[in-house]
Amino acid sequence: MARSTAVEIKNISVCFDGFWALTDVNINVKRNTIHFFIGPNGAGKTTLLDIICAKTKPTKGSVFYYPENSDGIKLTGMKEYKIVMEGVGRKFQVPSVFVNLSVMDNMILSLKGHKGVLESIFYKPSKQELMLIDETLEKVDLLDRKNVIAGSLAHGEKQWLEIAMQLVQKPQVIMLDEPAAGMGKPETFKTGEILKEIKKECTVIVVEHDMDFVKQVSDRVTVLHEGKVLMEGTCDEALSNETVQAVYLGRGGERDA
Ligand SMILES: Nc1ncnc2c1ncn2[C@@H]1O[C@H](COP(=O)(O)OP(=O)(O)OP(=O)(O)O)[C@@H](O)[C@H]1O
Ligand SMILES: [Mg+2]
Repeated sequence: MARSTAVEIKNISVCFDGFWALTDVNINVKRNTIHFFIGPNGAGKTTLLDIICAKTKPTKGSVFYYPENSDGIKLTGMKEYKIVMEGVGRKFQVPSVFVNLSVMDNMILSLKGHKGVLESIFYKPSKQELMLIDETLEKVDLLDRKNVIAGSLAHGEKQWLEIAMQLVQKPQVIMLDEPAAGMGKPETFKTGEILKEIKKECTVIVVEHDMDFVKQVSDRVTVLHEGKVLMEGTCDEALSNETVQAVYLGRGGERDA
């Protein structure tokens, strides 16, 4: 495998009780790129992220991860927490910040992810850890919100906090499921600019419906439809592809989902 590949999805098929959610999916995600999985509702995008982080076991096929400067790792069959420790992070479609804790405490909790909530709250971070938290919050423009209770953050800020909670673990690959969902245009744009910064240090896999957002930040787009790869290319290639227009864009998928 070329060293430029970060994640290789190889012949992945998934069957849920007789229903094929994914069929023979092959995708190579290049290092330090922003790679989108797009497609209509039910296309299999979230399932594919679940396969990469081993939350779901494929019926066939394997996923490989190529960390920088070390040998490839087969993610399929690994424990989820081990995959996170190897440097593959995941933000879920449903927000998962602790609303009763401050932004800072959420960050500490994420840094100490493998320990319990109580232990994390009473944990005293080292100087280096505090610096890392500040640097990371700066990247998502939340440094001045450090002591605010996460529950009182605006919707967009909560999403950015979640991204920061992933980043503080220093992943090499970060997966984001609909990071701009429910955001207005300015917040969506800002999310895009944050992702562009992140890709300098990290490979970013994103599932998103907002085509303006895809256009703003994508390096590569894979279009999924009914569990199969319909096409792969640049955002412009996807937008001008007639089949993609018919199954996805023509239905207003970019707006309604
Ligand atoms: N655990 C499961 N058991 C049975 N069917 C499932 C399971 N998970 C997903 N599916 C089905 O697989 C298909 C793909 O679902 P998935 O959530 O991956 O779609 P998606 O592309 O993320 O859609 P959306 O844009 O709505 O988030 C859907 O038909 C869904 O109902
Ligand atoms: Mg989904």
